[in-house]
Amino acid sequence: MWDRLNRLGAQSGDRAISTLFEASDRFESYSVRFDGLVFDYSKTNIDADTRNALIALASEADLAGRRAAMFKGAAINETEGRAVLHTALRNLDGGPVLVDGTDVMPQVHATLDRMETFAEDLRTGRIKGQGGRITDVVNIGIGGSDLGPAMACQALRPYCDGPRVHFVSNVDGAHVHDVLASLDPATTLVIVASKTFTTIETMTNAQTARDWMARKVTDPAAQFAALSTASDKTAEWGIAPDRVFGFADWVGGRYSMWGPIGLSLMIAIGAEGFGQMLRGAQSMDRHFRDADPLHNMPLMLALVGIWHNQVLGHATRAVLPYEQRLLRLPAYLQQLEMESNGKRVSMQGKELGHHSGPVVWGEPGTNGQHAFYQLIHQGTRVIPCEFLVGARGHEPDLAHQHDLLVANCLAQSEALMRGRPLTETRRMMAERGLQGAELDRQAAHRVFPGNRPSTTLLYPLLTPYRLGQIVALYEHRVFAEGVILGINSFDQWGVELGKELALSLAPMVTGAAAAQGKDGSTLGLISELHDMQAEETDA
Ligand code: F6P
Repeated sequence: MWDRLNRLGAQSGDRAISTLFEASDRFESYSVRFDGLVFDYSKTNIDADTRNALIALASEADLAGRRAAMFKGAAINETEGRAVLHTALRNLDGGPVLVDGTDVMPQVHATLDRMETFAEDLRTGRIKGQGGRITDVVNIGIGGSDLGPAMACQALRPYCDGPRVHFVSNVDGAHVHDVLASLDPATTLVIVASKTFTTIETMTNAQTARDWMARKVTDPAAQFAALSTASDKTAEWGIAPDRVFGFADWVGGRYSMWGPIGLSLMIAIGAEGFGQMLRGAQSMDRHFRDADPLHNMPLMLALVGIWHNQVLGHATRAVLPYEQRLLRLPAYLQQLEMESNGKRVSMQGKELGHHSGPVVWGEPGTNGQHAFYQLIHQGTRVIPCEFLVGARGHEPDLAHQHDLLVANCLAQSEALMRGRPLTETRRMMAERGLQGAELDRQAAHRVFPGNRPSTTLLYPLLTPYRLGQIVALYEHRVFAEGVILGINSFDQWGVELGKELALSLAPMVTGAAAAQGKDGSTLGLISELHDMQAEETDA
């Protein structure tokens, strides 16, 4: 099927997308509706033949079989021998989910109940700090133990009515310093979020936070909680078992915001709001599991991605939320997609015959319009764009601003598709009084080639339920892409080498060990670094 798709790509990849709208039902036929969401992919070059071939590709890859295996708890993360069951964390009123013959749902519910009690006790002040009611919570984690709750706390700001929640991730001491600087240790709870409880950034920041806490409170450990699969390590660290919220290894780091890793979010928005987010995700899970391919939103989103990236060769994908509060969504999706599908070998360890997943990047609109959209419209590379926009905002008195936001979003996808050809550009400039050589010279710069594909996801209002749907939509899209590419989307060996080398370099950087056994550039940089550090001035 790849050959057929490559042929279709060669034949139709450059066709004017706008001509597809000669069919009056183009929008209806090339969009998917589900539970309040609309996913429009009509402004792409996908036609009936292409779509059929893409669906056949998914079928050839046994997407249905792999999907069923995931939902029923088979060890589809084959390189680590693990099940992949983040869906169990939101299987609120579903049936049992078996891992090695044992139903995991009682444990999921028990942990959720404990989280809810803890979060509500903090929010109501039943649990206090050593200086009184907890006013601030600091989540210390990185990657999947940071991005999900950090993204969601920002996204759901109108629902945040609990203690203020802050996030520390970078090992750069500036991060933890700046966050802690304005907080009172006696009224702060520190949550150490780490699946493994070994990640050097997190454990270093956690130690810094404990030292900070110890300077003011008599029992610093009492103001810590831990989210981890490693209860032995949390105990070694002195965190009381009733402050430890555990989860199983079948929850991948970047898929973990639905369980204990989401505790900071639950504290911010409350158990009720968190539950609604789970329900939104559960709704998307059922849809992904049961809907036929043509009406299956995550699958169609995945197939559009495969068409653009692997077939047409567009290496990057821009995620452009027209929703300021989705500021961190692109960063969240970067980890979700690039750590999941950035793999050069197949599940069987063979080199892929096609590219791995795309480079994902983006910023909210309209800010991005005044920064990088120039390249999207007139650069030499085609960047497929994924717009997200809500029908309503949370500020009724600022509805006029929301209307402007939506108009900008729609204008961008329209402009990308239609462009502005030379003839139209020349006419426009002539009307403004330009003529002759000056018109010739200026016109070329003002041409928009157009025919640049985009999709739009439309949702009613960014509530916890909608956020749950949207994040689960992307999770399943990544899964479907991974299956089609033949990749194991659930390991991340590519992050290991840098971690190992950092450990061996640390003593050379501090001067505790002689700098040796490294390449000339690395040794040269260490030497320059030491010289700079020895200098008195910082000019
Ligand atoms: O960067 C690799 C990684 O393992 C991510 O997959 C993970 O989300 C992150 O580090 C944090 O890991 P942990 O939760 O174990 O601290």
